[in-house]
Amino acid sequence: MNYNTYFDTHIQTLKDNGHYRYFLEVNKSAQHFPKFYFQDQEGVKRSAINWCSNDYLAQSVHEEVISKLSFAGNRAGVGSGGTRNISGTTTYHKELEDTLAKLHKKEGALLFSGAYLANLTTLSTLGKLIPELIFISDERNHASMVEGMKASKNKKIIFRHNDVTHLEEILNALPTDQPKLIVFESVYSITGTIAPVREIAALAKQYNCLTYIDEVHAVGLYGEDGGGITSLYHVQSEIDIINGTLAKGFGVIGGYIAANQNIIDAIRSFGSGFIFTTSLPPAMCAAAIKSIQLVQGNSELRKQYQQNVKLLRQILNFHDVPFLSSESHITNIPIGDPSLCRKIASHLLFDSGVYIQPVFYPTVPLGEECLRITLTARHTQAQMEALAKSLRKTLNVFIPSAITHNTVVYG
Ligand SMILES: Cc1ncc(COP(=O)(O)O)c(C=O)c1O
Repeated sequence: MNYNTYFDTHIQTLKDNGHYRYFLEVNKSAQHFPKFYFQDQEGVKRSAINWCSNDYLAQSVHEEVISKLSFAGNRAGVGSGGTRNISGTTTYHKELEDTLAKLHKKEGALLFSGAYLANLTTLSTLGKLIPELIFISDERNHASMVEGMKASKNKKIIFRHNDVTHLEEILNALPTDQPKLIVFESVYSITGTIAPVREIAALAKQYNCLTYIDEVHAVGLYGEDGGGITSLYHVQSEIDIINGTLAKGFGVIGGYIAANQNIIDAIRSFGSGFIFTTSLPPAMCAAAIKSIQLVQGNSELRKQYQQNVKLLRQILNFHDVPFLSSESHITNIPIGDPSLCRKIASHLLFDSGVYIQPVFYPTVPLGEECLRITLTARHTQAQMEALAKSLRKTLNVFIPSAITHNTVVYG
């Protein structure tokens, strides 16, 4: 085999169908966030506003979080130097897990390098521990959950996105004593749809299922204490395992699950992606604790953020920029073609200083390519106005037919 040709052919196919990924080098500025600097193709330094960061509450640039990081880094050094089992469990790790357990009103929590690994490890480990377990999975679940279920080799049944009628049909057809786990997200990262968590929890109880929810795009943002959608609906005790990230609403790095102590202990003891990897840097744990404390106690920040989301949508509507209607903070402008999506994004960046990374396959199914706009707590009304005007101007150039007064409704 000619290995070089093999790789080149695969890459060329991606380039031909418009799915090749180009990364923009973002020179991030803590001081000026969401403004940042980058170099254009001619090497000229330019600035732009970031409209695709998941640092929703701008916690990554919060002065107290940064100070905590440097303080703890000076005390504890940088790396932890070990897996959790072999000298890598510091007091910071323990304190962070306690903080997360309390946030989600659970007996325990378990840290991972990221929520991707938390999903992958937890789901694959549960499948291996209970070989007869059937996963019942929402069709729009994140790649990390899909990979976790696949790795377990257990049976999986997919229900239509957020469709509790379909979910019940599936549950009804399974034997009562069949072990089963409903796997879903609270806020879906691309469409911005929110799961009917209460209804799913009720079905789980009725049909004796375990439940697993990914709250990655909800933690910090929803609920009185920022505990996510399960907190907003007060159903923490009805969901068995809650997955979250420290990297989005909390602005740091790392992922976790929160659950009853026996589940936590099982994943801690059998989960390969937990056991065989160096633990998070202690200073990152300290920064995450600080960030959670700040966010947890600041319901005003959450309220203000949601008001800004409303304001952004009013401004987009005013400028006739079509977007998917959504109950959450995520705003999705459907484009439906990867090359067009890239051209629009590139035009926005170089012409208007608006950075929105185009989203295409495999992040979304083919034909659902889009621009995903995320607001942060630091975006101003003036920046929102400028965004809407630039979007309208750019859409006029590339898809003139997208001039509409109607918000596109996700179907
Ligand atoms: C729904 C969902 N789950 C999990 C993850 C992984 O999170 P992390 O970045 O902490 O690994 C992401 C990442 O974007 C996500 O969108």
